[in-house]
Amino acid sequence: ATAPTLFQPLRIRDVELANRLAVSPMCMYSAQDGHLTDFHLVHLGQFALRGAGLTIVEATAVEPRGRISPEDSGLWSDSQIEPLKRVVDFVHAQNHKIGIQLAHAGRKASTLALWHLKPGTRCLATADQGGWPDDVVAPSAIPFAAEGGWPEPRALTLDEVEGVVRAFADAARRAVAAGIDVVEIHAAHGYLLTEFLSPLTNRRTDRYGGSFENRIRLAVEVIRAVRAVIPAGMPLFVRISATEWMEHGHETGQRSWDLEESIRFAKRLPELGVDLLDVSSGGNQPDQRIEVHPYYQVSLAGKIRDALRAEGKDMLIGAVGMISEAEMARSIVQVGEGVKGEEKKDRETVEVDEEHGQKTQADLVFVGRQFLREPNFVLKIAEVLGVPVKWPNQYLYGAPRRKL
Ligand code: FNR
Repeated sequence: ATAPTLFQPLRIRDVELANRLAVSPMCMYSAQDGHLTDFHLVHLGQFALRGAGLTIVEATAVEPRGRISPEDSGLWSDSQIEPLKRVVDFVHAQNHKIGIQLAHAGRKASTLALWHLKPGTRCLATADQGGWPDDVVAPSAIPFAAEGGWPEPRALTLDEVEGVVRAFADAARRAVAAGIDVVEIHAAHGYLLTEFLSPLTNRRTDRYGGSFENRIRLAVEVIRAVRAVIPAGMPLFVRISATEWMEHGHETGQRSWDLEESIRFAKRLPELGVDLLDVSSGGNQPDQRIEVHPYYQVSLAGKIRDALRAEGKDMLIGAVGMISEAEMARSIVQVGEGVKGEEKKDRETVEVDEEHGQKTQADLVFVGRQFLREPNFVLKIAEVLGVPVKWPNQYLYGAPRRKL
């Protein structure tokens, strides 16, 4: 029997992923001055060791003030190449692929990692705590929220905006030098590129603000600059927030970045050399209104995928968010009945929405927190779906149906 699509290889340009399960980028707040550490080698290495076709390194800042926290990963300096290469080499030794997410935190920079927050304390990382509260930048001088101790950003000058584009390209060049297989540009979750996309956070009156064309300009320039410095055979991904969940403001004339603008933006990406759009949502506004259920983001991915297909554009789509069961992961990339039997158990916990099961929602499944709970998620669901995935030699005695 042929393997479910989820376990069939996916070729993107010159890179072949062994399956369609990717470890979603997750900040670990464990870097030293932007350099990956032993923590990252073990943390990221474990996923490749346990079958993840693609592991994406956490949001990696393209300049120091573009870090979310003082302990974020970075690629603004050549000295950061070697520790990244060490992780890349390990993943390659397991015959799997590794990507990196390049990011700029914008107005959500200089904040503290979760475990440094004490009740009643502010999220801002002060200079004493390694932060840079006086050098937080954004399209416009609007803080994320009035409450909670968010930094007061200053609007980037035109020269600085051009500097951001160069910083993304320089970081991408370093990622290539480290041997990375895939580059993803972070334009989601309310960080700098999202802030430019959204009319709520971008009040600029120059060529980077106002009209749709002006608001997408920085993202487009970053994509072009990165595509120009990475090899032609290297896949380029972009992660967006498909909506900032502020539609309730539209009635009072407060436009926001929504699914319609995301679809419009998505249609521009294939010609810019983007291979996959990784569809997330939210993060740009404290008063976003999200109804969370297992398919709340997967459905957004499906809608963008449909809109592209309707115009004959076949850019790949990634789905992410609350994907934690075998059958859910399987059915996102493949319509039709699942493999009968054991996996039905998993299905009971998954609330199926009306569109689900009617059509393929995405081409690649990104999983975050489930990998933190269960690093062998890929091997486990292979077993549930009855797919004979090879375990690493060192772990063979632990593989299903193998006796001592
Ligand atoms: C995240 N997420 C995230 N997203 C991103 O684009 N870049 C990042 O660096 C991070 N960092 C991060 C850290 C941690 C600890 C978590 C839990 C999440 C979001 C993540 O990639 C994913 O989109 C969400 O967690 C939703 O997927 P899951 O976790 O429901 O599978």
